[in-house]
Amino acid sequence: MSRQDSIGVSEAEIAVHWQEEKLYYPSTSFIAQANMTDATLFDRFSLDNFPECFKEYADLLTWDKYWHTTLDTSDAPCFKWFVGGRLNASYNCVDRHLAENRNKAAFIWVSEQENEPDVVLTYQELYVRVNEFAALLQDYCGLKAGDRVTIHMPMVPELPITMLACARLGVIHSVVFGGFSGRACGERISDSGSSVLVTMDAYYRNGQLLNHKEKADEAVHIAASEDQIVKHVLVWQRYPGKYSASTPMVEERDVFVNDLVKKYRGQRVEPVSMPAEAPLFLMYTSGTTGRPKGCQHGTGGYLSYVAGTTKYVQDIHPNDVYWCMADIGWITGHSYIVYGPLSLGATSVLFEGVPTYPDAGRPWRIAERLNVNIFHTAPTTIRMLRKAGPDEPNKYNFNFKHMTTVGEPIEPAVWKWYHEVIGKGKAAIVDTWWQTETGGFLCSTMPALHPMKPGSAGPAMPGIHPLILDEDGNPIPAGAGKAGNIVIQNPWPGQFQTIWGDRDRFVRTYFGKYNKNAHSTDWRDWPYFPGDASMQAEDGYFRILGRVDDVINVAGHRLGTKELESACLLVPEVAEAAVVPVADEVKGKMPEIYISLKPGFTASKEIEQKVIQAIDTSIGKIARPKHVWIVPDMPKTRSGKIMRRVLAAVSNGMDVGDVTTLANPEVVASVKKMVQGEGGEADFYG
Ligand code: WT7
Repeated sequence: MSRQDSIGVSEAEIAVHWQEEKLYYPSTSFIAQANMTDATLFDRFSLDNFPECFKEYADLLTWDKYWHTTLDTSDAPCFKWFVGGRLNASYNCVDRHLAENRNKAAFIWVSEQENEPDVVLTYQELYVRVNEFAALLQDYCGLKAGDRVTIHMPMVPELPITMLACARLGVIHSVVFGGFSGRACGERISDSGSSVLVTMDAYYRNGQLLNHKEKADEAVHIAASEDQIVKHVLVWQRYPGKYSASTPMVEERDVFVNDLVKKYRGQRVEPVSMPAEAPLFLMYTSGTTGRPKGCQHGTGGYLSYVAGTTKYVQDIHPNDVYWCMADIGWITGHSYIVYGPLSLGATSVLFEGVPTYPDAGRPWRIAERLNVNIFHTAPTTIRMLRKAGPDEPNKYNFNFKHMTTVGEPIEPAVWKWYHEVIGKGKAAIVDTWWQTETGGFLCSTMPALHPMKPGSAGPAMPGIHPLILDEDGNPIPAGAGKAGNIVIQNPWPGQFQTIWGDRDRFVRTYFGKYNKNAHSTDWRDWPYFPGDASMQAEDGYFRILGRVDDVINVAGHRLGTKELESACLLVPEVAEAAVVPVADEVKGKMPEIYISLKPGFTASKEIEQKVIQAIDTSIGKIARPKHVWIVPDMPKTRSGKIMRRVLAAVSNGMDVGDVTTLANPEVVASVKKMVQGEGGEADFYG
């Protein structure tokens, strides 16, 4: 059996096949103002100058104590950066900007309700609120450095305040995307060992004020079932002084932060000077087995890397208005809304809602009103806005000098619309390829130094040295026209430190494939394997094709197919479940679900609905399948393995290949008929 059969189906296999595209050059006016125009940068960050080159990023920060060892490999592949150094992330993101920029906006928060006023948080106000909340965490919750706190919040100013208050104390925060279910949050509380959950009563989404507090109760309940007791649930109020959820508060356990924090008015908490390698936060992401992985990011390395890449790739200057329309609950928000921009003292827009409410002109009205000039979003959002209102951007007077796309491969046609219609033919675009695990960008053009190529992330970042390897570890040269597994040959400061509580899984998942000496302390023996397929063009640009493992990238976010399959099996009628990625015009990929039923049950809409409901409650609406197909049987190998690859081919209207060796080849024809209709091909985007 080939490796592909044993791991299911690879997204890379259903990747769209693109032509080589022509290059687009940044404008002279963009180049004239850019933070990075020095091409010798890449020489300074060559492998010969590794690891000392990263001092250039670390020097963007304020250190309490300078480090003595840039890279310590003694516990490879758990690499330690800037060892001996001490710093505090909250000090670097807040306090150090006060002397010069006390009155500058750190965040401009925009409600989804268009008639509600913005909340502008200056660096001074951010400082005060972070301190007061840190005092509360310390005094009321008894938290200290190294403890974990789970944060399950929507896009409100209180979210970065909460994160920075944790960072001030050296408390490790674990932010769970607000759209995830209570169950998903509870599992993460339990895995991280958090005894405090910070949440909010309600928030707006698509014009509706959603009850978010009810998820906290579910989360605490799930955590308790795994023996993790949550002592305090701290509830921020969307409208301070008013409770906007119908779920009762639990006495002793639940408290309104807005009331309690008044007790700490005027209090200041000395930022705890943390060792550079102390964990700053955990961020959970999906892997190939059911359990999500808590990616542990360190303080000094991570902050240096996001400061450097924000400055040079996001090209933020003191007077820019920067808007990253991601959610802080994902790594993009952590790195490029909170830690990167704040470490540079920048001004960011925070938006509560969805970009298409009340209509697809909303983002452009915000951009026009606030004079946003740097814009950052994902292909799925670009596709959605293009579909909902292709001419909408032309109606508004906004001008972006720079735009980012992140999270999944972008189709050249979509890239061109982004450039021409949103960027008005002028903006420099960076297509940034990276992951939750990598902390910051791995591949992207340097906006004033490199031309752009639609559909290609571009060359590697300074100090990042990728290679494309075949299954046996032989390099595939640039321009060979062949795809392979992209690896990064060297460690870098933004790289996560380990999987929380599971070093073995960390080593196995990210290094197991290409490491030849498990005892080596030489970083050269530990190429990092991100799990993406890629091709390198002759000019060195990398094109990312998609995931090689059984993880589906939905709207730029990874979902483990095993997690979805386990959710399906919670439905009593379901015997077997298989989840495959299917191309979707807006979301890029969506999960499509095949189930077979236990004997005695017949297919029905009710069962389909139950499956969808099970996924909503286990993971959240983000994982909603495109279709649920109830099939008489699953195509299987003779050893009884479900052939997900065959199902994926059917779902995507592709050739199923030779199925004669299957145990039940006749099943394929009936499944195909059900999904694609009589003789017809499925609607395939690409
Ligand atoms: C996976 C990481 C990057 C932060 C948000 C998602 C895919 C990411 C690109 C890009 C093609 C991309 C990869 C990667 N991906 N950026 N510019 N072009 N693919 O973080 O949830 O950890 O997902 O997203 O497959 O492995 P994540």
